[in-house]
Amino acid sequence: MEHFLSSMPKAELHMHLEGSLEPELMFELAQRNGIELPWDTVDQVRAAYNFGNLQDFLDLYYQGAGVLQTEQDFYDLTWAYLKQCETQNVIHTEPFFDPQTHTARGIDIGTVISGIDRALLHGREQLGISSRLILSFLRHLSEEDAFRTLEQALPYRDKFVAVGLDSSEAGNPPAKFQRVFEKARHEGFLTVAHAGEEGPPEYVWQALDLLKVSRIDHGVRASEDPALIERLAREQIPLTVCPLSNVRLRVFRSLDQHNILQLLEQGLKVTVNSDDPAYFGGYMGENFIEMSRQLPLTRDQAVQLSHNAFEAAFVSDDEKAAMLRRLDDFVTGYGNAGA
Ligand code: ADE
Ligand code: ZN
Repeated sequence: MEHFLSSMPKAELHMHLEGSLEPELMFELAQRNGIELPWDTVDQVRAAYNFGNLQDFLDLYYQGAGVLQTEQDFYDLTWAYLKQCETQNVIHTEPFFDPQTHTARGIDIGTVISGIDRALLHGREQLGISSRLILSFLRHLSEEDAFRTLEQALPYRDKFVAVGLDSSEAGNPPAKFQRVFEKARHEGFLTVAHAGEEGPPEYVWQALDLLKVSRIDHGVRASEDPALIERLAREQIPLTVCPLSNVRLRVFRSLDQHNILQLLEQGLKVTVNSDDPAYFGGYMGENFIEMSRQLPLTRDQAVQLSHNAFEAAFVSDDEKAAMLRRLDDFVTGYGNAGA
């Protein structure tokens, strides 16, 4: 089963590039850029990854992102993530980046986007990994700040396909960003939003009705609202669920308590994702494998989860069909190999 899960072609629709900053690269970039870190060793950094909630994590995550300064830094960060994708058979990815984390430190948004884009291009050319980039607004900041960020990003509009909403959810409802999302849609971007991670089901309704999102990031708290579950199932709104993240941030006490398989059984278009793999104990492969160890995940369910991600991807119908064919061929070939 574990070999099957790691070999299965997969798509990742919810990960934050800043959350793929491994402690080793954090130290390397800190040294390269002459930045002091509050830790002396990689082990000390990892020991600090013991979070009580989302905000605990975010405080560390923004601090870590401070080592990212140059175009090359953003390239190196993105390339390291793509190399992980390659080893785990992630053939398509739609990463987020948080421009405000960097522009607030005086780094030009063009530096950030150019470094990421150059790596994504190399990923396509050298690793055969397709990708679409998503610009995410920080919801603990004002809508005005998000508007300014969108304006700054417009010269690079061909480098990203959607806007998202992340950071501290409680107290920062989707409604706060209704106008900037409307502007983004008017400019031709798709929309997604983190909702129902720590926040209530009401935030998922708002993301759908006010932000007109194509996918909900997380959404696991939708299970508290039967009418919402019914709608998500009926409209086949994809949920980008992040199992290891939810355990590390204490949304669920342990993985065996996670509701991902219930949501799948209720007919929702659920997908598996890593969120912030350097901070939460693993990439896509580890998420699937830990699920198979701690939940009654069947092979058919794993294939369904992967199938859902290709269907929910922001790519053309032809690209979707080609990726789904790769998944089908893999499943057929695996069966024929007698495994
Ligand atoms: N930024 C990075 N990871 C996040 C998460 N899981 N929730 C909200 N904001 C984030
Ligand atoms: Zn996230």
